[in-house]
Amino acid sequence: MRSRPERGRVYRILNQPWCYSLILGVSGAAAGRREFFRQYADIPPGSRVLEIGCGHGRNIEYMPEGVAYTGCDPNPRYIHYAQQRYGSLGRFLCVSAEELAQQPLGEFDIVLIVSVLHHLNDTQVLALAASARGALRAGGLLLAWEPCWTPSQQWVDRLMLSLDRGRFVRTPDGYSMLLEKIFGSIETRFLMTPKMLWPQSGCILRGMTSGGTNSCSVTNPKYAPA
Ligand SMILES: C[S@@+](CC[C@H](N)C(=O)[O-])C[C@H]1O[C@@H](n2cnc3c(N)ncnc32)[C@H](O)[C@@H]1O
Repeated sequence: MRSRPERGRVYRILNQPWCYSLILGVSGAAAGRREFFRQYADIPPGSRVLEIGCGHGRNIEYMPEGVAYTGCDPNPRYIHYAQQRYGSLGRFLCVSAEELAQQPLGEFDIVLIVSVLHHLNDTQVLALAASARGALRAGGLLLAWEPCWTPSQQWVDRLMLSLDRGRFVRTPDGYSMLLEKIFGSIETRFLMTPKMLWPQSGCILRGMTSGGTNSCSVTNPKYAPA
C-alpha cells in the first residue's frame, strides 16, 4: 500500500484534466457516465441544472437537449479548463457549495452532484445540501450519484474504493441519513456503475424540495433496490 505522501503525488497527477479524462476513458467510467445520464438520471430536456462540484465540467457533455447548465467548483484550475472547453455550452463559476448562497444565480429545477459527497466530511455535506436546497425551486430535485460501501461488494471494488482520493466514502444509508437532515426524505437506490472495467458500487440519491411539481420521476423502476 502506498504511503500518504506518495499517494499525494499520484493524486496530483490525477488532478490534471488529461489524466482524469484518460482514466475515465480507459476504465470505462466515461461510458458508464454516458449510460448513467442516458438511462438513469432522467433529466428532462430544457431543465435548469446546477452541478455542484462540477470539476472539469465534463458532465455537461451528457446533458439532454436544451438544458441550461451551470457548473460550480472551488478549484480555479478545473473551472478555467471547463470555461475553455465547454464555455459555449454552459456557464462555469469558481465557487464552493458554501459560497453559493452569495451568488445571484437564479433558481434551478435540478441540482446535480456526482462523486463529490465522498470527498466531504459530515459538516461539509450538510452545508452543501443546504446550499443545494437554497438553489432549487419549489418541487426541485436533488440528484446525487456517489460510490458507496455495501456488505456484499467484491474485493476489487473495495480495494479501488479504499484507494480513492475521497476519504469519506459511505454506505447508501450513510449518505441518505445526512441528506435527509436537509431534504426530509431521500430515495436511495443502488447501481453498479455500468460499463466499468472493474465492478464499482454506487448509489443514486434523490430528494425534492417541498411544493411545486417536477416532471422527473423520483421513483425509477430501473434501479435495483438498495
Ligand atoms: C471527484 S471530483 C468530481 C468532479 C465531477 N463532479 C465529475 O463527475 O467528474 C470532486 C469535485 O468536488 C469538488 N469539491 C470539493 N469540495 C467542494 C465544495 N465544498 N463545494 C463544491 N465542490 C467541491 C472538487 O473540487 C472536485 O472537483
